[in-house]
Amino acid sequence: MNKLFKAVSLLAVLSLVLVACATPTTEAPKPTAAPAATSAPAATTAPQPTAVPPTATKAPLKGELSLLCTPQQVWCEGMKKEFEAKYPGVTVNFVRLSSGESLTRLRNEKANPQFDIWWGGPADSFIAAKKEGLLEPYKTAAQANLIDPKLMIDQDANPQWVGIYVGSLGFATNTKQTAIKAPTSMDDLIKPELKGQIVIAHPASSGTSYTFMCTILQTKGEAAGWEYMKKFAANVLLWTKSGAAPVDNSGKGEAAVGVVFSHDIVAGIEKGYPLALTFPAEGTGYEIGGMGIIKGAKNLELAKAWYDWALEGKTQELGKKYTAYQGLTIKGAVPPKPELLQVKLINYDFDYCGNNKKAFVDKFSNEIAAASLAK
Ligand code: F6P
Repeated sequence: MNKLFKAVSLLAVLSLVLVACATPTTEAPKPTAAPAATSAPAATTAPQPTAVPPTATKAPLKGELSLLCTPQQVWCEGMKKEFEAKYPGVTVNFVRLSSGESLTRLRNEKANPQFDIWWGGPADSFIAAKKEGLLEPYKTAAQANLIDPKLMIDQDANPQWVGIYVGSLGFATNTKQTAIKAPTSMDDLIKPELKGQIVIAHPASSGTSYTFMCTILQTKGEAAGWEYMKKFAANVLLWTKSGAAPVDNSGKGEAAVGVVFSHDIVAGIEKGYPLALTFPAEGTGYEIGGMGIIKGAKNLELAKAWYDWALEGKTQELGKKYTAYQGLTIKGAVPPKPELLQVKLINYDFDYCGNNKKAFVDKFSNEIAAASLAK
């Protein structure tokens, strides 16, 4: 499939979806234009004697930063290189882990933390980490540029996490499996014709999948939501570890439908997979990708430098260089795929999902996944 056709078909799918989603309940926060530069006021009085300029300049940063990285491997690698280019005295060592795995790792290392900063993954996990005392508060000037400060940062005076990107859940349907119609509602996923046709990550390991499950529990209510999850599990062919992996499964035709964040589906289509991207017309769940410094970080100064850098618009705009098409959280930064921010979203409650994460994941693992895997 040539590039133009791919782009056009993606736009066609998106416009169909956008037509279906005419009245958003909650619109994704939109980037606002950067404030115009104002000129400095003219001096009106005689020049005053100036203070002696400080002679001591800050020593260049050096050392090793230990990064826990949850987004795509390729983006983690790219950000490591970009940060090291900005600070040549610093080496970034990173491990890519999915959200739930990250949380488990941080919990196990609480007495002797091995990471300095955690970058990426849905904010629910950061809220859960804060609840367990795993994060270090950090207030910085850079947070003033967030597009939506009510939504995109921990509301404590000294916040423990901040938002660095936005992404919405979508469905990736293999277009060669013509017998299967691309789903356009969450209820389509539990229809008998999709039995054994769905791939999604496991909510215990993956933030993507947890976002899906918590979307269901919120929109249907917990009682009906758990009933839905039982039916959904009966249709799942495979539970992957990482949230984006089902793009490969559905892209290769191993299953008809993957439930994944839409930016990962777009990256899969660009890779050449025959996939259609659709959304639930009633509204979809979304993530705010979080970032937080680890409590007891051994390289706190470097962690703060990464944190501040990740909140620069120019840094966020680097994502598209590494096929990371998430929406951005900094005013004036240009999102790589603005159309992905136009879909109808639910009013996702991050506190509800973050504070209940452990309980919901345990319930799912013990009561539903075990039965599903045994089938
Ligand atoms: O692949 C990138 C991404 O979808 C991020 O947008 C998201 O925060 C992360 O993966 C979640 O990964 P996982 O579902 O493996 O925890």
